[in-house]
Amino acid sequence: MKHITKIYGNGVLANDDMNLELAESEILAVVGENGAGKSTLMKILYGLEHPTAGEIYIRGEKQVFKNPQDAMKSGIGMVQQNFMLLPPFTVAENIVYGNEPRKSRFLFDRKKAKAEVDELSERYGLGIDSNLVVEDCPVGLQQRCEILKVLYQNADIIIFDEPSAVLTPQEVDSLLDTLRNLAKAGKSIILITHKLNEVMAVSDRCIVMRGGKHIATVKTSETSTKELSAMMVGREIVDAKIPQATPGKTVLEVNDLVKTGEAGKPILKGCSLHVNEGEIVGIAGVSGNGQTELLHTIVGLMQADSGNIVLDGKEIGGLDVRSIRETGCAYVPEDRNTMGCALKATLSETMLMAHQYEEMFNHKGILKHKTAAERFTALLEQYDVKYSTLSQLSGELSGGNLQKLIVAREMSHHAKLLIVSEPTRGVDIGAMEFIHNQILKQRAEGGAILLVSSDLTELLKLSDRIYVMYDGFINGELKRAEAKPENVGILMMGGSADD
Ligand SMILES: Nc1ncnc2c1ncn2[C@@H]1O[C@H](COP(=O)(O)OP(=O)(O)OP(=O)(O)O)[C@@H](O)[C@H]1O
Ligand SMILES: [Mg+2]
Repeated sequence: MKHITKIYGNGVLANDDMNLELAESEILAVVGENGAGKSTLMKILYGLEHPTAGEIYIRGEKQVFKNPQDAMKSGIGMVQQNFMLLPPFTVAENIVYGNEPRKSRFLFDRKKAKAEVDELSERYGLGIDSNLVVEDCPVGLQQRCEILKVLYQNADIIIFDEPSAVLTPQEVDSLLDTLRNLAKAGKSIILITHKLNEVMAVSDRCIVMRGGKHIATVKTSETSTKELSAMMVGREIVDAKIPQATPGKTVLEVNDLVKTGEAGKPILKGCSLHVNEGEIVGIAGVSGNGQTELLHTIVGLMQADSGNIVLDGKEIGGLDVRSIRETGCAYVPEDRNTMGCALKATLSETMLMAHQYEEMFNHKGILKHKTAAERFTALLEQYDVKYSTLSQLSGELSGGNLQKLIVAREMSHHAKLLIVSEPTRGVDIGAMEFIHNQILKQRAEGGAILLVSSDLTELLKLSDRIYVMYDGFINGELKRAEAKPENVGILMMGGSADD
């Protein structure tokens, strides 16, 4: 990619004279702060966006990609972060969809499809059962299905935009193995990630971007995470020392929650926990062990079959979401795109969501737009969110900036109970430090915080106490001093603290 410049319709300069070279069998990492222009550059390579200036050459030949189909014809594939799979179809059906092998013009050759997919899966060591129905697959398998789909389309340049953000630590390990296998088999890989240990583990070279510009290209073997992070944010990141917590009275008490799902499948098998003022309580667990359902029950998105939930002395079990929020609960959901905001809403609307009826923003049913705008502008500046105007669409923000906006909205209301799920998913290391400090600040002011994170480092750093969830129940509780990756890991796998 030569001299690529991209100016979006709203005047944002997202790429500024970017150059990028990728060799055969190479794994190239692309890193940079939120809004640096990484996704934009890759969308241009994949034909999803058009450059304002600059050129793309594949094996020396100039290419113009009108759309992803053009890019695919040149052997470029992209593993999207929001998977594009058809949930009720099998893995094999999903992979051949659009390029089905046929027995005759109107007859799908199911057997051949399966054989081809199995061969591919075998060849690249992906180990996926092509008969599985996609909606029953955990996220890690769905991602492998996306990778196979790209391979089936004969891609030899494969772009991954933050592939590990949605994976468990175990799934990340196998993803990194897959990337190595692909490179060994001659594929060229571009990997966008905020996790510098992944960069160090798999990449051959690394490109650092800032403000749409190329800052540096380094050989991975000749750099360190420290140097990379300094180049990304232009300063060094130091791990802050965390002061001791001084917990006060109980804010949230959850007793014996039981929930049975469809077809009698137990989801919550009697969960009890409490969170005190001035305390950060973490919930650890491999995703899919009931954490999401537990949080959804507390915030009122789901109803338990039995058990009770007391917030600030008031029984909230069975109340609607609004009443629970008004009792004093804020919530950063794990999925920013579907639950944290509406991508087609403006930034103002997203910031206002769930607070539109509060006196601060509402006078007898009329929204106080001016007050809201002033407050939002200040808040977005405080959280260092990169945006153009409050009237732009939420979906136009870079992933990390949208995450910061949602965290800002929820934290700014200083609710008695703050529930945060994956608060730093997709944010850069500088922003992660900032969000951690905000959470600690709220603790210091007496806030009760319930934190769910699949990032064990984050969880162990912030939590004063940790509950470990396994298979729908709480398999153990550890104080800060006792919580080490090893014993949390054992509890996460269903073992006991004495193992
Ligand atoms: N469709 C769009 N319309 C207008 N502006 C956009 C659009 N997509 C991205 N931008 C802007 O372009 C800039 C670069 O965004 P991009 O998504 O490329 O960043 P990124 O490096 O991928 O960040 P992150 O790490 O947060 O994912 C940002 O300022 C963003 O707001
Ligand atoms: Mg991005």
